[in-house]
Amino acid sequence: MSSIAQEVARRRTFAIISHPDAGKTTLTEKLLLFSGAIQIAGSVKARKASRHAASDWMEIEKQRGISVASSVMQMEYKDCVINLLDTPGHQDFSEDTYRVLTAVDAAIMVIDAANGIEPQTIRLLQVCRARNTPIITFVNKLDREVKEPLDLLSEIESHLGMDAIPFSWPIGMGKHFGGVFDLRNDRMRLFKAGQERLDGNDEYIEGLHNPIIKEKFGSYYDKALEEIELIREATPTFDHAEFLAGKQTPVFFGSAVNNFGVQEVLDTLVEWAPKPGARQALQRTVQPEEPKFTGVVFKVQANMDPAHRDRVAFVRVSSGKFERGMRLKVSRTNKEIRPNNVVSFLSQRRELLDEAYAGDVIGIPNHGVLHLGDVLTEGENLQFTGLPFFAPELFQAVEVKDPLRSKQLRTGLTQLGEEGAIQVFRPEAAGGALLLGAVGQLQFEVVVHRLKTEYGVDAHLMPSRYTMARWFTSDNPAALRKFMTSNAQHIAYDVVDAPAFLVSSMAQLRVAEELNPDIKFHAMREHG
Ligand code: G4P
Repeated sequence: MSSIAQEVARRRTFAIISHPDAGKTTLTEKLLLFSGAIQIAGSVKARKASRHAASDWMEIEKQRGISVASSVMQMEYKDCVINLLDTPGHQDFSEDTYRVLTAVDAAIMVIDAANGIEPQTIRLLQVCRARNTPIITFVNKLDREVKEPLDLLSEIESHLGMDAIPFSWPIGMGKHFGGVFDLRNDRMRLFKAGQERLDGNDEYIEGLHNPIIKEKFGSYYDKALEEIELIREATPTFDHAEFLAGKQTPVFFGSAVNNFGVQEVLDTLVEWAPKPGARQALQRTVQPEEPKFTGVVFKVQANMDPAHRDRVAFVRVSSGKFERGMRLKVSRTNKEIRPNNVVSFLSQRRELLDEAYAGDVIGIPNHGVLHLGDVLTEGENLQFTGLPFFAPELFQAVEVKDPLRSKQLRTGLTQLGEEGAIQVFRPEAAGGALLLGAVGQLQFEVVVHRLKTEYGVDAHLMPSRYTMARWFTSDNPAALRKFMTSNAQHIAYDVVDAPAFLVSSMAQLRVAEELNPDIKFHAMREHG
């Protein structure tokens, strides 16, 4: 095996998806604890502390250094290099979250056992499902009074559309949480509360039918045993290929805050989650083990100093080996860059920072040379598919208070649009105000704030009658022309000049679809 192939084989790149408060931050901290990278744990928490209000978010974004550094966490565990990509934790969704999910090979889903599957998890799951991303499920907070485990299991199955295969099963819950049966190793692991304890000191009782367990846990044990019988009859056995195909999810029960059940999740990730896979480009399939470097920008984030418009482009390596100072070509512009000053993400070993392989993420500071979706290569012209832009669900018209600053408004919006902070639509009809489209309300507030602080523009947002946008294409140029002429009032162009049809209701869209059978309407646009 080549050294590149060896490095690829030991990489695992994943994200944690959950509804706010389910325990993502806690689980992240515990994972870092296991890999010995605890020094960042404080900053993970600090970041999250101010999540609940938009104003707090802006405050915390002032410390963008932290936010960039903890966007990707690299750690080593059992000879594997693990890249954990953070999905923005705010209640209000930004499209960033979705795009981060296109850069991972697996996901851990955290569920609050008291609440089951919650709305935000469902939306994230849809993105994972669309890409058949393998998912490991962690059911958290068993130390509280929670839903019945069997009910949780069927909830997971129905929302994921996957078979949920328990790898562990809880005995009791809340005050009576005794621990979990480790179903694959036929033993019980006793629950002990405690935050900093590493799972190495765990206490086990061997054998599911060991009388000591019955003695200790009485009816809770009987109930768990009955449930296990039931699930063993009803669920298929775990099949690695089915997991990789996104058809089965292993399920663990535990308590992140007590560091209970976390190690199993990490072990499963290392053992079963896939190494970085091949990536599809328009020109060809790119294999991660290829000698030449390729990578794609999946996220752009404003950096420390807003006045200088610094941005960090997050590049997921798709193949080859990245070395500091190497010459790279940006496929879109044919320009060459030579990143020396790469943002280093946390790692225990220095050499990991100087080299990167498929699955790793490198942060390249730049002044706008790199856009979302850009492909970097050693010279080849490549365009990757699959970086999604989602049709916005919220619209606001935007105007500048001082007309003399409309140029700055356009510049600002173009740059923020390129960064993916918001979608900007330019109406076809002359004189129409620019439209901002978002997936989450918070995106508008952030954009107004950033227009003011970074571009000196006082922007004024106004309600828009639109609630939906669909990009459209057609194989029939005459039909396309006719559609565009007769609907000119409803057509606007996005940052890459792709035309979109704007409507104020689903009914209106349905009518358009019926009247224009030759036009295809798309809720998602892939970059390129
Ligand atoms: P998030 O990132 O998904 O939003 O969730 P986070 O980890 O911050 O957890 C949300 C709350 O749930 C936190 O409490 C956290 O301590 C708690 N929590 C996490 N895991 C468990 C668990 O296994 N059992 C119990 N009982 N609670 C858990 P908080 O009060 O909001 O914050 P904190 O003051 O405890 O940090």
